[in-house]
This record gives sequence, structure tokens and C-alpha cells, in this order.
Amino acid sequence: MEDTVFVITGGHGGIGIVLVKKLLKKDAKVIVLDVKDTSSEKVKANENYTFIKTDVTDVEDLKKAYKIIKDKYNHINYLISMAGINMKSEVEGLKGMKMHDIDKSIKLNLNAHIYLIKIMIDLLENSKERDRRAFLMISSINAITTYGLPAYSAAKAGIYGFMKSILNELGKSSIRVNTLSLGTVPHMEQEIEGDEYFENYAKHLPIKHFVRPTDVADTIYSLLDITKCINGQNIILDMGQSV
Ligand SMILES: NC(=O)c1ccc[n+]([C@@H]2O[C@H](COP(=O)([O-])OP(=O)(O)OC[C@H]3O[C@@H](n4cnc5c(N)ncnc54)[C@H](O)[C@@H]3O)[C@@H](O)[C@H]2O)c1
Repeated sequence: MEDTVFVITGGHGGIGIVLVKKLLKKDAKVIVLDVKDTSSEKVKANENYTFIKTDVTDVEDLKKAYKIIKDKYNHINYLISMAGINMKSEVEGLKGMKMHDIDKSIKLNLNAHIYLIKIMIDLLENSKERDRRAFLMISSINAITTYGLPAYSAAKAGIYGFMKSILNELGKSSIRVNTLSLGTVPHMEQEIEGDEYFENYAKHLPIKHFVRPTDVADTIYSLLDITKCINGQNIILDMGQSV
């Protein structure tokens, strides 16, 4: 994967960092756009790793990131829009949710995906191999279940509509677009072991354990670089949790 460039927003989250390490092991060039760099000294020392401090809800930040990527590699093969979190007050439901958190959540969990591809599209078009161009947005089964988190869930559902709307336009440049909807993905083994909530929850799953960050990383790798005919799909990765 020596000339393969991955750009990952939110690449320092619990899921993102596992993906970053997997891709670096495969000798890919990995660029992380995140508000913080919490990666290990080993990752930072890797010459294939680039961190660009970016708030993905800030268009000017994204434009600066675009310029850095253009100067360094002039292309992107795989653009992964992963940055996303629910606002704390959303947990309280519609009544408890703070008004300003509605806009904040929609801006991060929906608008930022749109800004990102709009700004980076020609870097995807610049990649030489037409069958190695893809845009992947990370959604959640919150979009299709009754789990609450009103604005987060609305935004994550909005991603599906956005994907369909750009499929033909990006298809002209052979850019595949898919969404990956995750079920609960605890980040650390200790979040499950000995935790009453997770242990009780896992008992109700069809397969009695949660998706792990490594499962997500493996799926993303396969979806982008191996299964090259999947386009316009929402892939659900949840061990059957949403069923
Ligand atoms: N972990 C889960 O159970 C779960 C379930 C369903 C969907 N998801 C989705 O998967 C993705 C990754 O989740 P995670 O569990 O790794 O989350 P996380 O909270 O561990 O990581 C989120 C990352 O996004 C970054 N980020 C937040 N706001 C940003 C901004 N404005 N600009 C740039 N970066 C920003 C954070 O710094 C962090 O590194 C998210 O989109 C999330 O909604 C996660």
C-alpha cells in the first residue's frame, strides 16, 4: 500500500487509532484530521504518519488541511469521515437537551461530512487508480433504532440521504461512496469485563459480544481496498444488535 493515501477524520478516537495503526503496519500513508493528537511516540515517529490539527466543523480549517495534503501527496485514495460524538445533554432526551447542542451535534455529525467531501473531492479525483478512490462516512445504528440521542440520531440518518444524493456525481469520477453504521463499540476490554451494564447488555445480543475497534478497522480496510464493487450501501456492523 506504499502509495495509498488514507485521510481519516477523528482518527484519534477509540476506533480511529486502531485503524490508523493497522494502516501504518501496511505501509499506507495515513493523514489524521482531528482536534487533538493523542497517538503514541511510535506512531508520531512513523514517516508515513501525518497529523493535521483540524476542527472538521470549521471550513477554514478544512481548507488549510486540503492545502497541506495537496502539497504533500497531491491525491487521496480513501477519505474516511469518522469524527463524531453525541452531545452530553442529548442523553437526557429531547426535553433535557440544550438548544445549542442541537446545532452543535448536527454540525459535527452531519454537516462536517458534507464540508469534507466538498473540499477534498479533487484530491480523490487526482488519484491515479480509478478503482482505488472511495469516500466512507461512519454512521450509527442510532439512525435506525429507538435508542434516543435525538440530534445525533437525526444527523447519522441524514448521512444516508447525503450518500445517495452524491452517488451519481461522484460516480462520474469513479469515487465509491458508502456508509458504515456501527453498533456499540466499547474501546477497551475493561469497558466490558466486570462492567455490569455491558455484561447485561451483551447477554441480549444475538452473538454475545460487542463489535471491537479491530473489527471496525478490518471491515473498513476490506470495504475500501478489497471489495471494490460495493457502492451506495449502508453496511451495518453490529453483531445483530439493531435487529
Ligand atoms: N463507539 C461506539 O460505540 C460507536 C457506535 C456507533 C457509531 N460510532 C461512531 O464511530 C465514530 C468513531 O467513534 P469513537 O467511538 O471512536 O469516538 P471517540 O469519541 O472515541 O472519537 C471521536 C474522535 O473525533 C474527534 N473529534 C470530535 N470532534 C471533532 C471535531 N470537531 N473535529 C475533528 N475531530 C473531532 C475526537 O477528538 C476523537 O478523536 C463516530 O462517528 C461515532 O459516532 C461509535
